[in-house]
Amino acid sequence: MGKSNSKNTVVAELSIEEIAAIRDSWTRAKNYNIGKKILFSLIEKRPKFAEYFGIPSDAVTFDGMQNSRELQLQAHRIQGFLDTAVGALGYCPISSVYDMAHRIGQIHFYRGVNFGADNWLVFKRVTVEQVAEAAATSRNGTEDSEGNGLKTLNDNEESSLFGSVAPIIGARRDPVTEICWNRLMTLIIREMKRGFLEEAMRNCKE
Ligand code: HEM
Repeated sequence: MGKSNSKNTVVAELSIEEIAAIRDSWTRAKNYNIGKKILFSLIEKRPKFAEYFGIPSDAVTFDGMQNSRELQLQAHRIQGFLDTAVGALGYCPISSVYDMAHRIGQIHFYRGVNFGADNWLVFKRVTVEQVAEAAATSRNGTEDSEGNGLKTLNDNEESSLFGSVAPIIGARRDPVTEICWNRLMTLIIREMKRGFLEEAMRNCKE
């Protein structure tokens, strides 16, 4: 696993302060169904992704998303991966996180999930946004008691298909959280892309 050349490349690692900020925000965000929020928000931005899970892109509804077992499972995978990655930061070499991300990239190649660079970028943006928002929401305690991100929106709040992406008054995202998560996700996505592309090229040659 992970014959990624990242191990031989000098990369800017995360500082202790950045790791602390990532851990702190994640501890708060993960209690708010963050995997689901990330995936739902991703599909809201790229309805075509829903087709991978058997939902026609023109039939994406909140109920349809809630009831899709495949989506729940995928949300669980995303959250589980991020939990492991964040848990490893500061305790294991960063190369172990790269290896996991690299492997995920390879898996998506074999599952036929054909991500272009643009789609990985959306995934990165959405993850940063959603973690920062959930962490801020958790701090302010404005989420519904079950952490579904499904609180009823009032007229002052921007209406969006899934509610979870609406700005929550009094729960402004912390820019430091966003910067640190952006750094982490840049590293993770880079390895996912590399894993995917290396596998694609290897298959091309064979
Ligand atoms: C950290 C992020 C992610 C992780 C850890 C992850 C993990 C996985 C794993 C382990 C599988 C293989 C499941 C199996 O073969 O049983 C998989 C499949 C898949 N993933 Fe992801 N994934 C991530 C991001 C995404 C994103 C952003 C999408 C975009 C929609 C996506 C779409 C899919 C699809 C469509 C499959 C195939 C499902 C199937 O064949 O049933 N994944 N993912």
